[in-house]
Amino acid sequence: MQSRILVADDAEVNREILRDMLEDDYIIEMAEDGEQVIRKLEMYQNDTEALLLDLHMPKMSGYNVIAEMKRRGWMDKIPVLIISGEGTAEVEKQCFELGVLDFIHKPFDASVVKNRIRNTVELSAHKNLLEQEVERQTRALKKQEQIIEIQAEQLKKEKSFNNLMMQYRCAIMEVETKLKVLNEEFSQEYNRNPFEAISSRLKSPESIFEKLLRKGFPITVKNVEKHLADVAGVRVICSFPDDIYHLAELICSQDDIVVLEEKDYIKDPKSNGYRSLHLILDIPIFLSNEKKYMKVEIQFRTIAMDFWASLEHKLKYKKDVKNAEDIVAQLKACADSIELLDYQMQEIRDKIDNDRDENFK
Ligand code: GTP
Ligand code: MG
Repeated sequence: MQSRILVADDAEVNREILRDMLEDDYIIEMAEDGEQVIRKLEMYQNDTEALLLDLHMPKMSGYNVIAEMKRRGWMDKIPVLIISGEGTAEVEKQCFELGVLDFIHKPFDASVVKNRIRNTVELSAHKNLLEQEVERQTRALKKQEQIIEIQAEQLKKEKSFNNLMMQYRCAIMEVETKLKVLNEEFSQEYNRNPFEAISSRLKSPESIFEKLLRKGFPITVKNVEKHLADVAGVRVICSFPDDIYHLAELICSQDDIVVLEEKDYIKDPKSNGYRSLHLILDIPIFLSNEKKYMKVEIQFRTIAMDFWASLEHKLKYKKDVKNAEDIVAQLKACADSIELLDYQMQEIRDKIDNDRDENFK
Protein backbone atom coordinates (compact mmCIF):
# COMPACT_ATOMS: atom_id res chain seq x y z
CA MET A 1 0.00 0.00 0.00
CA GLN A 2 1.26 3.49 -0.85
CA SER A 3 1.81 5.89 2.03
CA ARG A 4 0.35 9.33 2.22
CA ILE A 5 2.31 12.59 2.13
CA LEU A 6 0.75 15.97 2.88
CA VAL A 7 2.20 18.90 0.91
CA ALA A 8 1.30 22.29 2.42
CA ASP A 9 2.27 25.40 0.46
CA ASP A 10 0.27 28.46 -0.60
CA ALA A 11 2.14 28.66 -3.94
CA GLU A 12 0.42 26.35 -6.40
CA VAL A 13 3.58 25.98 -8.46
CA ASN A 14 5.45 24.52 -5.48
CA ARG A 15 2.66 22.08 -4.70
CA GLU A 16 2.57 20.93 -8.32
CA ILE A 17 6.33 20.45 -8.61
CA LEU A 18 6.36 18.35 -5.44
CA ARG A 19 3.33 16.35 -6.58
CA ASP A 20 5.04 15.55 -9.89
CA MET A 21 8.13 14.38 -8.09
CA LEU A 22 6.39 12.23 -5.49
CA GLU A 23 3.14 10.91 -6.92
CA ASP A 24 4.67 7.71 -8.26
CA ASP A 25 5.74 6.69 -4.77
CA TYR A 26 3.13 8.26 -2.49
CA ILE A 27 -0.51 9.28 -2.28
CA ILE A 28 -0.31 13.08 -2.27
CA GLU A 29 -2.64 15.29 -0.23
CA MET A 30 -2.49 19.07 -0.71
CA ALA A 31 -3.17 22.04 1.55
CA GLU A 32 -2.90 25.69 0.53
CA ASP A 33 -3.18 27.29 3.97
CA GLY A 34 -2.55 26.38 7.59
CA GLU A 35 -6.18 25.70 8.46
CA GLN A 36 -6.42 23.18 5.62
CA VAL A 37 -3.34 21.40 6.98
CA ILE A 38 -5.05 20.89 10.33
CA ARG A 39 -8.28 19.72 8.64
CA LYS A 40 -6.38 17.21 6.49
CA LEU A 41 -4.44 15.95 9.50
CA GLU A 42 -7.70 15.53 11.43
CA MET A 43 -8.71 13.14 8.65
CA TYR A 44 -5.39 11.43 7.94
CA GLN A 45 -3.29 11.80 11.10
CA ASN A 46 -2.94 8.04 11.47
CA ASP A 47 -1.74 7.30 7.96
CA THR A 48 0.30 10.37 7.00
CA GLU A 49 3.93 9.41 6.51
CA ALA A 50 5.25 12.98 6.42
CA LEU A 51 4.18 16.60 6.25
CA LEU A 52 6.04 18.96 3.89
CA LEU A 53 5.25 22.36 5.38
CA ASP A 54 5.74 25.90 4.12
CA LEU A 55 6.37 28.43 6.91
CA HIS A 56 4.58 31.37 5.28
CA MET A 57 0.94 30.61 4.48
CA PRO A 58 -2.33 32.52 4.83
CA LYS A 59 -4.82 31.98 7.70
CA MET A 60 -2.33 30.05 9.79
CA SER A 61 1.46 30.14 9.44
CA GLY A 62 3.67 27.05 9.44
CA TYR A 63 4.81 27.98 12.95
CA ASN A 64 1.22 28.04 14.18
CA VAL A 65 0.54 24.71 12.44
CA ILE A 66 3.46 23.20 14.38
CA ALA A 67 2.19 24.72 17.63
CA GLU A 68 -1.27 23.26 17.01
CA MET A 69 0.21 19.86 16.09
CA LYS A 70 2.19 19.89 19.31
CA ARG A 71 -0.92 20.74 21.30
CA ARG A 72 -2.75 17.78 19.74
CA GLY A 73 0.21 15.39 20.22
CA TRP A 74 0.78 14.92 16.47
CA MET A 75 4.39 16.13 16.32
CA ASP A 76 5.56 12.87 17.90
CA LYS A 77 3.96 10.69 15.24
CA ILE A 78 4.11 12.74 12.01
CA PRO A 79 7.57 13.76 10.76
CA VAL A 80 7.60 17.40 9.60
CA LEU A 81 9.94 18.72 6.87
CA ILE A 82 9.98 22.45 6.14
CA ILE A 83 9.75 23.66 2.55
CA SER A 84 11.90 26.76 2.58
CA GLY A 85 13.07 29.40 0.17
CA GLU A 86 15.86 31.38 1.74
CA GLY A 87 16.02 29.67 5.19
CA THR A 88 18.53 31.43 7.41
CA ALA A 89 20.45 29.42 9.99
CA GLU A 90 18.47 31.18 12.71
CA VAL A 91 15.14 30.06 11.18
CA GLU A 92 16.43 26.49 10.82
CA LYS A 93 17.65 26.42 14.42
CA GLN A 94 14.27 27.66 15.64
CA CYS A 95 12.47 25.01 13.55
CA PHE A 96 14.65 22.17 14.85
CA GLU A 97 13.94 23.33 18.38
CA LEU A 98 10.20 23.10 17.60
CA GLY A 99 10.63 19.45 16.58
CA VAL A 100 10.97 19.77 12.80
CA LEU A 101 13.07 16.90 11.41
CA ASP A 102 14.50 18.31 8.16
CA PHE A 103 14.37 20.97 5.41
CA ILE A 104 13.70 20.83 1.69
CA HIS A 105 15.20 23.82 -0.05
CA LYS A 106 13.98 25.50 -3.23
CA PRO A 107 14.64 25.03 -6.08
CA PHE A 108 13.64 21.39 -5.59
CA ASP A 109 15.79 18.54 -6.83
CA ALA A 110 13.79 15.33 -7.23
CA SER A 111 16.37 12.93 -5.88
CA VAL A 112 17.28 15.15 -2.90
CA VAL A 113 13.58 15.60 -2.04
CA LYS A 114 12.90 11.85 -2.21
CA ASN A 115 15.96 10.95 -0.19
CA ARG A 116 15.25 13.51 2.50
CA ILE A 117 11.68 12.29 2.86
CA ARG A 118 12.75 8.64 2.93
CA ASN A 119 15.47 9.24 5.52
CA THR A 120 13.24 11.35 7.71
CA VAL A 121 10.40 8.83 7.60
CA GLU A 122 12.78 5.96 8.42
CA LEU A 123 14.42 7.90 11.23
CA SER A 124 11.09 8.83 12.70
CA ALA A 125 9.79 5.25 12.48
CA HIS A 126 12.95 4.03 14.19
CA LYS A 127 12.61 6.63 16.92
CA ASN A 128 8.97 5.68 17.47
CA LEU A 129 9.90 2.01 17.71
CA LEU A 130 12.60 2.81 20.27
CA GLU A 131 10.19 4.93 22.28
CA GLN A 132 7.60 2.15 22.24
CA GLU A 133 10.23 -0.31 23.42
CA VAL A 134 11.32 2.00 26.26
CA GLU A 135 7.67 2.45 27.24
CA ARG A 136 7.10 -1.31 27.14
CA GLN A 137 10.13 -1.95 29.30
CA THR A 138 9.13 0.76 31.76
CA ARG A 139 5.68 -0.80 32.05
CA ALA A 140 7.23 -4.26 32.56
CA LEU A 141 9.53 -2.89 35.25
CA LYS A 142 6.65 -1.16 37.03
CA LYS A 143 4.68 -4.39 36.92
CA GLN A 144 7.63 -6.32 38.30
CA GLU A 145 8.00 -3.77 41.10
CA GLN A 146 4.33 -4.16 41.94
CA ILE A 147 4.64 -7.97 41.95
CA ILE A 148 7.68 -7.72 44.24
CA GLU A 149 5.77 -5.43 46.58
CA ILE A 150 2.78 -7.78 46.75
CA GLN A 151 4.97 -10.85 47.27
CA ALA A 152 6.97 -8.97 49.89
CA GLU A 153 3.76 -8.15 51.75
CA GLN A 154 2.65 -11.80 51.58
CA LEU A 155 5.95 -13.21 52.69
CA LYS A 156 6.26 -10.74 55.54
CA LYS A 157 3.16 -12.39 57.00
CA GLU A 158 4.54 -15.92 56.66
CA LYS A 159 5.79 -17.53 59.84
CA SER A 160 8.71 -19.36 58.23
CA PHE A 161 10.01 -16.11 56.70
CA ASN A 162 9.72 -14.24 59.97
CA ASN A 163 11.47 -17.13 61.73
CA LEU A 164 14.32 -16.92 59.25
CA MET A 165 14.63 -13.16 59.74
CA MET A 166 14.70 -13.71 63.51
CA GLN A 167 17.53 -16.22 63.01
CA TYR A 168 19.51 -13.74 60.91
CA ARG A 169 19.04 -11.12 63.63
CA CYS A 170 20.46 -13.63 66.13
CA ALA A 171 23.42 -14.30 63.84
CA ILE A 172 24.09 -10.55 63.68
CA MET A 173 24.02 -10.41 67.48
CA GLU A 174 26.53 -13.28 67.65
CA VAL A 175 28.95 -11.51 65.29
CA GLU A 176 28.53 -8.20 67.09
CA THR A 177 29.23 -9.89 70.42
CA LYS A 178 32.37 -11.55 69.10
CA LEU A 179 33.62 -8.20 67.85
CA LYS A 180 32.76 -6.42 71.06
CA VAL A 181 34.54 -9.10 73.11
CA LEU A 182 37.70 -8.51 71.07
CA ASN A 183 37.36 -4.77 71.53
CA GLU A 184 37.00 -5.15 75.30
CA GLU A 185 40.06 -7.38 75.48
CA PHE A 186 42.18 -5.06 73.34
CA SER A 187 41.30 -1.94 75.26
CA GLN A 188 42.11 -3.73 78.55
CA GLU A 189 45.33 -5.43 77.39
CA TYR A 190 46.81 -2.99 74.88
CA ASN A 191 44.94 0.22 75.57
CA ARG A 192 43.62 0.47 72.03
CA ASN A 193 40.50 -0.39 70.07
CA PRO A 194 40.71 -2.51 66.94
CA PHE A 195 37.61 -0.84 65.50
CA GLU A 196 35.94 2.54 65.74
CA ALA A 197 32.36 1.50 65.11
CA ILE A 198 30.16 -1.36 63.96
CA SER A 199 26.78 -1.15 62.29
CA SER A 200 24.42 -3.88 61.20
CA ARG A 201 21.49 -4.25 58.90
CA LEU A 202 18.99 -6.89 57.94
CA LYS A 203 18.17 -6.84 54.24
CA SER A 204 14.60 -5.64 53.62
CA PRO A 205 12.08 -8.14 52.17
CA GLU A 206 11.85 -5.98 49.02
CA SER A 207 15.63 -6.09 48.48
CA ILE A 208 15.68 -9.82 49.21
CA PHE A 209 13.08 -10.45 46.50
CA GLU A 210 14.65 -8.11 44.02
CA LYS A 211 18.00 -9.90 44.42
CA LEU A 212 16.48 -13.38 44.13
CA LEU A 213 14.65 -12.33 40.96
CA ARG A 214 17.81 -10.75 39.57
CA LYS A 215 19.68 -14.00 40.16
CA GLY A 216 16.85 -15.97 38.55
CA PHE A 217 15.61 -17.92 41.58
CA PRO A 218 11.97 -18.37 42.57
CA ILE A 219 10.96 -16.42 45.64
CA THR A 220 10.83 -18.97 48.45
CA VAL A 221 12.09 -18.97 52.02
CA LYS A 222 14.46 -21.86 51.15
CA ASN A 223 16.03 -19.91 48.30
CA VAL A 224 16.67 -16.92 50.55
CA GLU A 225 18.82 -19.13 52.78
CA LYS A 226 20.42 -21.04 49.96
CA HIS A 227 21.27 -18.31 47.49
CA LEU A 228 21.69 -15.06 49.43
CA ALA A 229 24.74 -14.47 51.57
CA ASP A 230 24.09 -10.88 52.59
CA VAL A 231 20.70 -10.94 54.31
CA ALA A 232 22.57 -10.35 57.56
CA GLY A 233 25.22 -7.67 57.15
CA VAL A 234 27.71 -6.24 59.63
CA ARG A 235 30.01 -3.35 58.80
CA VAL A 236 33.15 -2.84 60.88
CA ILE A 237 34.91 0.52 60.68
CA CYS A 238 38.57 0.48 61.71
CA SER A 239 41.10 3.29 62.00
CA PHE A 240 43.97 1.58 60.18
CA PRO A 241 44.28 -1.03 57.42
CA ASP A 242 46.29 -3.44 59.57
CA ASP A 243 43.54 -3.42 62.22
CA ILE A 244 41.23 -4.75 59.51
CA TYR A 245 43.44 -7.74 58.75
CA HIS A 246 44.20 -8.39 62.38
CA LEU A 247 40.54 -8.33 63.37
CA ALA A 248 39.46 -10.43 60.37
CA GLU A 249 42.08 -13.03 61.22
CA LEU A 250 40.99 -13.20 64.86
CA ILE A 251 37.36 -13.66 63.84
CA CYS A 252 38.11 -16.24 61.13
CA SER A 253 40.26 -18.34 63.45
CA GLN A 254 37.49 -18.80 66.04
CA ASP A 255 36.65 -22.48 66.03
CA ASP A 256 32.87 -22.16 65.68
CA ILE A 257 33.13 -20.02 62.55
CA VAL A 258 33.31 -21.27 58.97
CA VAL A 259 34.70 -18.84 56.39
CA LEU A 260 32.67 -19.37 53.22
CA GLU A 261 34.18 -16.61 51.11
CA GLU A 262 36.69 -13.79 51.30
CA LYS A 263 36.87 -10.89 48.86
CA ASP A 264 39.79 -8.57 49.46
CA TYR A 265 39.01 -5.33 47.67
CA ILE A 266 41.80 -3.64 49.67
CA LYS A 267 44.54 -5.68 48.00
CA ASP A 268 42.58 -5.70 44.70
CA PRO A 269 40.45 -2.55 44.64
CA LYS A 270 37.49 -2.38 42.24
CA SER A 271 38.10 -0.27 39.14
CA ASN A 272 35.99 2.56 40.62
CA GLY A 273 38.36 2.69 43.62
CA TYR A 274 36.19 0.75 46.10
CA ARG A 275 38.24 -0.79 48.90
CA SER A 276 36.99 -3.02 51.71
CA LEU A 277 37.53 -6.53 52.99
CA HIS A 278 34.40 -8.70 52.63
CA LEU A 279 33.89 -11.97 54.46
CA ILE A 280 30.97 -14.33 54.19
CA LEU A 281 30.85 -16.37 57.39
CA ASP A 282 28.75 -19.28 58.57
CA ILE A 283 28.11 -18.71 62.24
CA PRO A 284 26.14 -20.94 64.61
CA ILE A 285 23.19 -19.67 66.59
CA PHE A 286 21.81 -21.70 69.47
CA LEU A 287 18.03 -21.95 69.45
CA SER A 288 15.88 -23.83 72.00
CA ASN A 289 15.88 -27.03 69.98
CA GLU A 290 18.72 -26.72 67.48
CA LYS A 291 22.10 -25.30 66.62
CA LYS A 292 21.87 -23.66 63.21
CA TYR A 293 24.53 -22.14 60.97
CA MET A 294 23.63 -18.78 59.43
CA LYS A 295 25.40 -16.75 56.76
CA VAL A 296 26.58 -13.27 57.66
CA GLU A 297 28.41 -10.79 55.42
CA ILE A 298 31.02 -8.67 57.20
CA GLN A 299 32.53 -5.64 55.47
CA PHE A 300 35.69 -4.24 57.04
CA ARG A 301 36.91 -0.81 56.02
CA THR A 302 38.77 2.18 57.40
CA ILE A 303 37.03 5.40 58.40
CA ALA A 304 38.29 7.02 55.22
CA MET A 305 37.19 4.12 52.98
CA ASP A 306 33.76 4.26 54.61
CA PHE A 307 33.51 7.98 54.01
CA TRP A 308 34.34 7.33 50.35
CA ALA A 309 31.96 4.36 49.96
CA SER A 310 28.94 6.20 51.31
CA LEU A 311 29.47 9.08 48.88
CA GLU A 312 30.06 6.72 45.96
CA HIS A 313 26.94 4.74 46.92
CA LYS A 314 24.89 7.93 46.43
CA LEU A 315 26.14 8.20 42.86
CA LYS A 316 25.11 4.61 42.11
CA TYR A 317 21.51 5.09 43.14
CA LYS A 318 20.99 8.57 41.76
CA LYS A 319 19.73 8.77 38.21
CA ASP A 320 20.57 11.52 35.73
CA VAL A 321 23.61 12.84 37.57
CA LYS A 322 25.21 15.68 35.60
CA ASN A 323 28.89 15.15 34.65
CA ALA A 324 28.75 11.58 35.98
CA GLU A 325 31.98 10.71 34.15
CA ASP A 326 33.86 13.54 35.86
CA ILE A 327 32.49 12.49 39.22
CA VAL A 328 33.58 8.88 38.65
CA ALA A 329 37.11 10.10 37.82
CA GLN A 330 37.17 12.39 40.86
CA LEU A 331 35.99 9.58 43.12
CA LYS A 332 38.73 7.30 41.75
CA ALA A 333 41.33 10.01 42.48
CA CYS A 334 39.96 10.41 46.01
CA ALA A 335 40.13 6.62 46.54
CA ASP A 336 43.81 6.70 45.55
CA SER A 337 44.50 9.59 47.95
CA ILE A 338 42.64 7.76 50.69
CA GLU A 339 44.80 4.68 50.20
CA LEU A 340 47.91 6.82 50.57
CA LEU A 341 46.49 8.60 53.59
CA ASP A 342 45.46 5.36 55.34
CA TYR A 343 48.98 3.95 55.10
CA GLN A 344 50.65 7.26 56.05
CA MET A 345 48.46 7.45 59.14
CA GLN A 346 49.36 3.86 59.96
CA GLU A 347 53.07 4.67 59.67
CA ILE A 348 52.70 7.66 61.98
CA ARG A 349 50.82 5.51 64.49
CA ASP A 350 53.64 2.91 64.35
CA LYS A 351 56.23 5.60 65.03
CA ILE A 352 54.25 6.94 67.98
CA ASP A 353 53.78 3.40 69.33
CA ASN A 354 57.48 2.62 68.95
CA ASP A 355 58.47 5.80 70.76
CA ARG A 356 56.11 4.91 73.55
CA ASP A 357 57.52 1.38 73.74
CA GLU A 358 61.05 2.83 73.88
CA ASN A 359 60.07 5.06 76.79
CA PHE A 360 58.77 2.07 78.67
CA LYS A 361 62.09 0.24 78.43
P1 GTP B 1 25.94 -7.34 45.63
O1 GTP B 1 25.00 -8.02 44.70
O2 GTP B 1 25.89 -5.83 45.52
O3 GTP B 1 25.78 -7.80 47.05
O4 GTP B 1 27.40 -7.72 45.15
P2 GTP B 1 28.17 -9.11 45.27
O5 GTP B 1 27.24 -10.16 45.78
O6 GTP B 1 28.90 -9.35 44.00
O7 GTP B 1 29.22 -8.87 46.43
P3 GTP B 1 30.35 -7.78 46.67
O8 GTP B 1 31.20 -8.39 47.74
O9 GTP B 1 31.03 -7.30 45.44
O10 GTP B 1 29.53 -6.55 47.28
C1 GTP B 1 28.81 -6.67 48.47
C2 GTP B 1 28.46 -5.31 49.03
O11 GTP B 1 29.62 -4.49 49.14
C3 GTP B 1 27.51 -4.48 48.20
O12 GTP B 1 26.18 -4.82 48.42
C4 GTP B 1 27.84 -3.07 48.71
O13 GTP B 1 27.27 -2.87 50.00
C5 GTP B 1 29.32 -3.14 48.89
N1 GTP B 1 30.00 -2.74 47.64
C6 GTP B 1 30.56 -3.56 46.73
N2 GTP B 1 31.08 -2.85 45.72
C7 GTP B 1 30.86 -1.55 45.99
C8 GTP B 1 31.18 -0.32 45.33
O14 GTP B 1 31.75 -0.30 44.25
N3 GTP B 1 30.80 0.84 45.94
C9 GTP B 1 30.16 0.85 47.15
N4 GTP B 1 29.82 2.04 47.68
N5 GTP B 1 29.83 -0.28 47.79
C10 GTP B 1 30.17 -1.47 47.23
MG1 MG C 1 25.05 -7.32 48.82
